[in-house]
Amino acid sequence: MKAVKAVVFDLYGTLYDVHSVAGRCGERFPGRGLEISLLWRQKQLEYTWLRTLMGQYISFEQATEQALDYVAAHLKLSLPPEAHAELCNEYLRLRPYPEADAALSALRARGLPLAILSNGSVFSIHSVVEHSRLAHQFDHLISVEAVKMFKPHTSVYELAERTLGFARDEILFVSSNSWDASGARHFGYQVCWVNRFGNTFDRLGQTPHYTVASLDELPERVSAAAVAS
Ligand code: LAC
Repeated sequence: MKAVKAVVFDLYGTLYDVHSVAGRCGERFPGRGLEISLLWRQKQLEYTWLRTLMGQYISFEQATEQALDYVAAHLKLSLPPEAHAELCNEYLRLRPYPEADAALSALRARGLPLAILSNGSVFSIHSVVEHSRLAHQFDHLISVEAVKMFKPHTSVYELAERTLGFARDEILFVSSNSWDASGARHFGYQVCWVNRFGNTFDRLGQTPHYTVASLDELPERVSAAAVAS
């Protein structure tokens, strides 16, 4: 494999813990925080895929809002508009995984440009990254908004290749979402799957080049790959 010239990260679930919203959900619905958060995330993803298939793009915030509407209806939760807005707002203030900052610094110290390529809108990506004070770590924050389709559509992966100006097989794409890692591998990136929770990789005809259990393993992996190439 070629030496890695840049690293592109997925945002939700990879650098940031989407289930950090469970705390706020649990304050409103005691004992049900994680149940709500898990279904909410699942529906949010489904809505991004379905909207892409329907050819009817909406922003990631809208998909998030509509997914929460579904969850409230399905679980019969009473969610007045201000509570709905408060919970959606949590998606703009997600917690980064504890090792993210140091891992990003270590990669930067190796001279690698870093980017985020996310299904989030420009607004939501900037909100999350700025709230967590990690904006200085990234050379590019790339949103699907430019192509109005969501990952894993190949047009989205193309966006990062074009923005970074390196060939796809010189870019390492890092995601915890195995469907996203599959889409990236299919497109032609070098791919690292972050499997923090012992998950099973999706059966989409693709496998990652590397698997790590957390982001702090990444700098070593990138160096080893460069030496081996
Ligand atoms: C993202 C979602 C897919 O950040 O995790 O694009």
